Amino acid sequence: MIRLKNAEQLEGIRRSCSLLSELFGILVPMALPGISTAELDEAARSFIVSRGGKPAFLDYEGYPASLCVSVNEVVIHGIPGRQRLEEGDIVGLDCGIDLGGYFSDAAVTVPVGKVSAELGQLLRVTRECLDRAIAAVKPGARIHDVSRAVFGHAVSQGYGVVRQYCGHGVGFSQHEDPQIPNYVSPGPNPRLVPGMVLAIEPMINLGKGDVRLLDDDWTVVTLDRKPSAHFEHTVAVTETGAEVLTSWSVPSAS
Ligand code: MF3
Ligand code: CO
Repeated sequence: MIRLKNAEQLEGIRRSCSLLSELFGILVPMALPGISTAELDEAARSFIVSRGGKPAFLDYEGYPASLCVSVNEVVIHGIPGRQRLEEGDIVGLDCGIDLGGYFSDAAVTVPVGKVSAELGQLLRVTRECLDRAIAAVKPGARIHDVSRAVFGHAVSQGYGVVRQYCGHGVGFSQHEDPQIPNYVSPGPNPRLVPGMVLAIEPMINLGKGDVRLLDDDWTVVTLDRKPSAHFEHTVAVTETGAEVLTSWSVPSAS
């Protein structure tokens, strides 16, 4: 069931998204060689709590941290720990906040120092996939239009698209209907209407799209162990198109 948001509820989600955007303004510049993934997680947790929010991922189905930190071949849901970032890595930072019962969700993939041209290109194209997906959001369009925008662009550049994990509705909880696949799936294809709030999140691989789950039951890696990129925004469907509720900026890759 897709739960539409009224103006007051949207305002609550906007505030949650603003706080999350502020957090990305702190975390992205911290993604430098030598920092541990646990240090990034602790920065996220303490910021969220200090501002009266709850880290929405912490304890979500047993997830043990406030932030997902996904380095290189890790697609999503990397668990923070002792690993330290190294020059030339790419690192996905994915976070969500529950602020007064309103949920936000966003992710970026950041180049650590200077990265190869090949990785820079992967980051750029994955961002473009998200931009194109958002451009497809307007009343009357369907979920598959969003999916097609991501898939078409990624495949045209020779990349693999992850199929096992999807974008989703968000706002009253971390994951709501509808699912938003990054490929045109045989699944439900609802029409977009004003008041829907969507977390759109292309996951694009340098190699093939296949993934596997590690033994920790969270970490999703590419099967071919080539790098993967992930960008996500929380977006509201408006009368005329889309309002992007989260924001982040990432340094250029070179
Ligand atoms: N942005 C991720 C998603 O929508 C967040 C996962 S939440 C976690 O799937 F708690 F499971 F990590
Ligand atoms: Co999400």
